[in-house]
Amino acid sequence: MPSDTQTLAARPAAAGKRRAAVTALKLTRYRNYATLTLPLAGLSVVLTGQNGAGKTNLLEAVSLLSPGRGIRAARLDEIAMKGGGTFAVAARVANGAGEVDLGTGVVAGPMGPESKRRVHVNHAPVGSSDALLDHLRVLWLTPTMDGLFTGPPADRRRYLDRAVLSIDKRHGTRANAFEKAMRGRNRLLAEPAPDAAWLDAIETEMAELGVAIAAARREWAALAVAMIDVAGRRSAFPTAALALSGSLEGDLDGFAAREVEERYRKLLRDERSADAAAGRTLVGPHRSDLLVRHAPKDMPAESCSTGEQKALLVGLVLAQARLVANLTGETPVILLDEIAAHLDETRREALFEVLGDLGAQAFMTGTDAGVFAPLGDAAQRGRAHDGRIEMEPA
Ligand SMILES: Nc1ncnc2c1ncn2[C@@H]1O[C@H](COP(=O)(O)OP(=O)(O)OP(=O)(O)O)[C@@H](O)[C@H]1O
Ligand SMILES: [Mg+2]
Repeated sequence: MPSDTQTLAARPAAAGKRRAAVTALKLTRYRNYATLTLPLAGLSVVLTGQNGAGKTNLLEAVSLLSPGRGIRAARLDEIAMKGGGTFAVAARVANGAGEVDLGTGVVAGPMGPESKRRVHVNHAPVGSSDALLDHLRVLWLTPTMDGLFTGPPADRRRYLDRAVLSIDKRHGTRANAFEKAMRGRNRLLAEPAPDAAWLDAIETEMAELGVAIAAARREWAALAVAMIDVAGRRSAFPTAALALSGSLEGDLDGFAAREVEERYRKLLRDERSADAAAGRTLVGPHRSDLLVRHAPKDMPAESCSTGEQKALLVGLVLAQARLVANLTGETPVILLDEIAAHLDETRREALFEVLGDLGAQAFMTGTDAGVFAPLGDAAQRGRAHDGRIEMEPA
């Protein structure tokens, strides 16, 4: 229904934001889907089905319409049907600017499937998956994130950097460049007599990138805190208090960026032998952490109950959705895998209400269709089984 979809997508969402929505999706050789063509009305989507039916796979395919490795952080050869070869995801997206076709996947090269995914916008190749952010932002909450607060800092850092990327398109490039420079330095330090001038050059680059990464994270945190504050007062989800821990993030509290950069460059130079002995760079933005507290209880998130942690996570993803909508003028697409688990009925209904207010397209999954009844005709429903999805007409 392209014309209805157009109207729906162009309809202002909450507070005058435009809504971006996936209006058609086609998968080829994508995990358990040999081929799947899904006509969507642009509404939210509720997908139910038994375990192993392909619900999370579908959400993962949508998540690849954003930079990075998607909701499972999967390798490309895991995604292609039966562990290898090519696959494709093609989507039509209606957003404030009209309609755009986005595509991604792995194509066959002379030596077998290519190792990097390709990205197309309106059927023309683009050099970087960051270009997808010009058309669509995708946020998600999945069961693997249930351990976010209790798990290792690396998980929270990835969450943080993805959140930053969804409002700052250059953040991914900066983070990748830093990682690459740091790997270069670690390799050099492992040599018996590393070239000092080369180390100087790499460390200067690392300092510049490191401070840019820390500054972008701080900016995100300040905006997120403000957004949580605004939403929190009338939310069914507990407000989170956020803080960043990290040497550069901390230094930016008291010093100008230029000065922090110089201090970090000097620290890297002074710590060469310690880092060489450790076999890695011990200080930098790759060691930072996102600290989350349950504000009303004044309790670290990791000490909260499973349900409380889930509610905190939902609050965070909703705040992020509002932040993206406010900064870009367009609501993101929100993927909520097994969202009903751990949420009591009141919270579930509050979530549906907030999604309605926000006006965003959400893809929600569950094994029990009944819990989504309160969504009424705000959602299109589909049932996954045997590599197929039967969609009810919207
Ligand atoms: N590369 C692949 N090729 C073929 N099948 C795959 C591939 N990767 C995963 N699968 C299969 O896809 C099926 C569906 O997985 P998915 O995680 O989407 O299920 P689900 O509906 O979310 O189930 P649950 O309710 O248990 O979360 C699984 O049986 C899995 O083995
Ligand atoms: Mg699943």
